[in-house]
Amino acid sequence: MRILSVVGARPNFMKIAPIIKACKASKIIEPLLVHTGQHYDRRMSDLFFHQLGIPKPDINLEVGSASHAVQTAEIMKAFEPIVLKHKPEAVLVVGDVNSTIACGLVAVKLGIKLIHVEAGLRSFDHSMPEEINRVLTDSISDLLFCTEQSGVDNLIREGIPKEKVFLVGNVMIDTLLENKTRAEESNILNQLNLNGNGYATLTLHRPANVDDPVVFGRILDALEVIQNDMPIIFPIHPRTRQNLKALDLDQRINDMLNLQLVEPLGYLDFLKLMSSARLALTDSGGIQEETTILKVPCLTLRKNTERPITVEIGSNQVVGTKTENIIGAYKKIINGNWRESQIPPLWNGNAAERIVSLLIKNI
Ligand code: UD1
Repeated sequence: MRILSVVGARPNFMKIAPIIKACKASKIIEPLLVHTGQHYDRRMSDLFFHQLGIPKPDINLEVGSASHAVQTAEIMKAFEPIVLKHKPEAVLVVGDVNSTIACGLVAVKLGIKLIHVEAGLRSFDHSMPEEINRVLTDSISDLLFCTEQSGVDNLIREGIPKEKVFLVGNVMIDTLLENKTRAEESNILNQLNLNGNGYATLTLHRPANVDDPVVFGRILDALEVIQNDMPIIFPIHPRTRQNLKALDLDQRINDMLNLQLVEPLGYLDFLKLMSSARLALTDSGGIQEETTILKVPCLTLRKNTERPITVEIGSNQVVGTKTENIIGAYKKIINGNWRESQIPPLWNGNAAERIVSLLIKNI
């Protein structure tokens, strides 16, 4: 059974790695891998293939960066002939990036079954490009694999037949558990002159945070206070680096002597940095889940989350982007005023195997 799997952007790579491995182990599914080229920098792409042992993509569409419409359209144009040539039984997409919806649309228009991994997550915020990608991809998928019960509930509420929906756990967590011991060996803490866990890890890249000078400024106000207390390590996403310059905010960052800007890190170094931190500050989706498994307190600098289980039982708190709220939540963590968290059901390292056995049964 030939299944064409798609990756495009950084968070897709850790999701696809265990799926490709489980497909190969099944000896029934032949996994073909397409990289759309949405992310192309070595530190945003190749490094992850190398560290996670993902086979070199069979096809690279090399689409690169552009506006949403152009990027989505270019991926569709380049992906259609690949599907026609390889005639897969199904196309499998993960997550919520532009590559996900672009390749999903091509597949269903050619009458090929579409599988969505990480289905059903909803922030209910249509100003997020990812929310549009999630809702649209789910509405055209034939098999939908969810990481948490809220995903299942959302899909049923939206009228997706329940026979198509499966709660399987979290493939990103499969990858984390598989690599945790290897990550321990990373010497990133020495490289950054960190000792113990008295530091914070920061990531920021959402358009709502880094495209708006007022919001970005409020976040910087909070960071200024926190870095007076403990070092902040900030592996910076390319779009955030561009915006710091464009919005004339780079001097403010440079003036924060206890905030270290570093290039985007590889998977193992980042996992080590995150797991040893006193806390994480982030607007990423995946980091909310990873910190939940690691039991590291996470402050999500957004108004909402599409991953509510990380807040209900995990170590995540959605704090928004108001300076005083970020500082208030930070102080609670530092004062030890943070509740004990739990691991969500099925986040135990076997999600990809569950997916593969369901594919064999259902395709
Ligand atoms: C994309 C996803 C987002 C995901 C994020 C993870 C969409 C709509 N967004 O956002 O959901 O959380 O990836 O990183 O799909 N750039 C580089 N090198 C690269 C890639 C990007 O320099 O390898 C720069 C380009 O200038 C580009 C900008 O970053 O314009 C944004 O890249 P893009 O792929 O459009 O979206 P992300 O912000 O990375």
